[in-house]
Amino acid sequence: TTPFRIALAGLGTVGGGVVKLLDANRALIERRAGREIRIVAVSARDRTRDRGVDLSRFDWVDDAATLSSRTDIDAVVELIGGADGPALTLARATLARGCAFVTANKAMIAHHGLELAQTAETSGAALKYEAAVAGGIPVIKGLREGAAANEIARVYGILNGTCNYILTTMESEGRDFADVLADAQALGFAETDPSFDIDGIDAAHKLSILASLCFGTAIDFPAVTVSGIRNVIAADITEAAALGYRVRLIGLGEADGHGLFQRVHPCLVPLGHPLAHVAGSLNAVVAEGNFVGRLLFEGRGAGEGPTASAVVADLIDVARGETGPAFAMPVSALAKSSPAPAGDR
Ligand code: HSE
Repeated sequence: TTPFRIALAGLGTVGGGVVKLLDANRALIERRAGREIRIVAVSARDRTRDRGVDLSRFDWVDDAATLSSRTDIDAVVELIGGADGPALTLARATLARGCAFVTANKAMIAHHGLELAQTAETSGAALKYEAAVAGGIPVIKGLREGAAANEIARVYGILNGTCNYILTTMESEGRDFADVLADAQALGFAETDPSFDIDGIDAAHKLSILASLCFGTAIDFPAVTVSGIRNVIAADITEAAALGYRVRLIGLGEADGHGLFQRVHPCLVPLGHPLAHVAGSLNAVVAEGNFVGRLLFEGRGAGEGPTASAVVADLIDVARGETGPAFAMPVSALAKSSPAPAGDR
């Protein structure tokens, strides 16, 4: 069988993790994919940085954009990040020429996912983004494929590990927000611009993707109402605890007769609810389907191993020839999201 040849654009934490995972689990990945998954080319800003793995065996290219036109590559893996800029240029060109595209880029999917999915459908290319939402938790596959036959009324969860770490540390140590923020950044989960985490933007990117998958609507990121955790103080957490609640940053999507509600904000979660017990930087997603009942997905939402696991799972799908719509259904069949009128909730 012919190897499935891939290129990695971006070699940060996740890119290094993909190389390590493909090396470590080579035999089982090959059995599952039905063929070898071989890294052919890599591109990164800094060639000299030690990523803890031998990268000299790959073809290094300076300009990631050139990867889109290489006919010796079957899939481009984009780990550059950012909604626009080089990541978007690469995505558009790769998909337009009919080459598979795998990404962890939630901001780009939230802003441009429909356009990219349309390009992919036209050219017959696969577009995969499991790693974009909740890192290693297979929530895209779980909801798109596993809950495909259900009407889902609500989807909600803890979608940002940095915020959950900050809130749970404030809770256990009685410290204030500003005090814990630096610790959270040191963990390496924070976005390049950490205000994306603490102001709820990152969670809103992920929520808009989940809402589209669950409700079969077009992604509508601008319609998400967002408020982050900047103004949560230690006393809020202590008082909530006295009443039997924990403070969590929750992303919530609900579809009913009034339209689609999408919100990210700090919530009081009762101690009896599983989301009150999601520790540290973990993520969790709950979806309620009319036949399957309540589903709960929990796990590590960021970091090298978990995010690389999601990227390689997508590559296995593509290598064995699985195609299909990027979202719940082909773009033309997605309902236009009708944001619920303000004040209905
Ligand atoms: N900054 C994100 C988080 C990383 O803290 O959850 C994963 O998307």
